[in-house]
Amino acid sequence: MSIIGFIGGTGPEGKGLGLRMAMAGHEVIIGSRDSLRATNAANDIKELTNTKLIIKGADNKQTATESEIVFITVPYEGHQNTLIDLKSELSGKIVVDTVVPLKVSKGNFESIEVPSGSAAEEAFINLPNSHVIGAFHNVSAVELLKPTTSVDCDVIITGNNSESKNIIMQLAEGINGIRAVDGGRIENTKQIEDLTILLLNINKIYKKHSMIKIVGL
Ligand SMILES: NC(=O)c1ccc[n+]([C@@H]2O[C@H](COP(=O)([O-])OP(=O)(O)OC[C@H]3O[C@@H](n4cnc5c(N)ncnc54)[C@H](OP(=O)(O)O)[C@@H]3O)[C@@H](O)[C@H]2O)c1
Repeated sequence: MSIIGFIGGTGPEGKGLGLRMAMAGHEVIIGSRDSLRATNAANDIKELTNTKLIIKGADNKQTATESEIVFITVPYEGHQNTLIDLKSELSGKIVVDTVVPLKVSKGNFESIEVPSGSAAEEAFINLPNSHVIGAFHNVSAVELLKPTTSVDCDVIITGNNSESKNIIMQLAEGINGIRAVDGGRIENTKQIEDLTILLLNINKIYKKHSMIKIVGL
């Protein structure tokens, strides 16, 4: 079992993944720019289930320091500065980037152009001493936050370090219903991030929380 931290873990994505990781038996730290907000979010997660979970809150720096695996769950606006601030704390660790660079234009979700290609590649460039993995972009936080629901979808996982990618694939499959799919190199993450934008537009039309499954594997 690992100690897993969430930078910007007070939003739905960090809370949802934090819940599922804790349910799988990991020790979870919810990070925030404000430690009180982090503690409150950790308590909110515990209240979602009667199962005893090991979750606490801390500021983002402490979260990055104490965790063995660190998820980045901030909006794209805060992505690069957050990585730069935590570069030394994240050194030598697996960093899982879930960030989708997006904006809303005339009620439609659209991608934001990222100079490095994708948010995950931006992390890869800014954190040369970490093992950056892209994952969980296409999973609905709403579904993750329902502890008794099976999250029936695929999670495509990218990264250039096979050992780290395998660890995160196993972690993903620890969530009830999820199948991990190897998406190849970190350079492939742009297509996965953009797929989330399509799903969000589909969600608006159908008023659902769509996810993806790849057939033929
Ligand atoms: N929601 C989903 O279903 C989903 C699915 C797949 C991927 N994602 C990705 O996961 C990430 C988080 O999604 P979310 O919906 O949880 O986002 P969110 O609620 O908008 O933000 C998460 C947390 O990030 C922190 N934050 C906000 N602005 C920040 C900034 N400028 N700098 C540093 N920290 C900041 C806040 O925590 P504090 O104020 O407590 O620091 C906030 O609670 C996004 O990049 C999103 O694209 C989300």
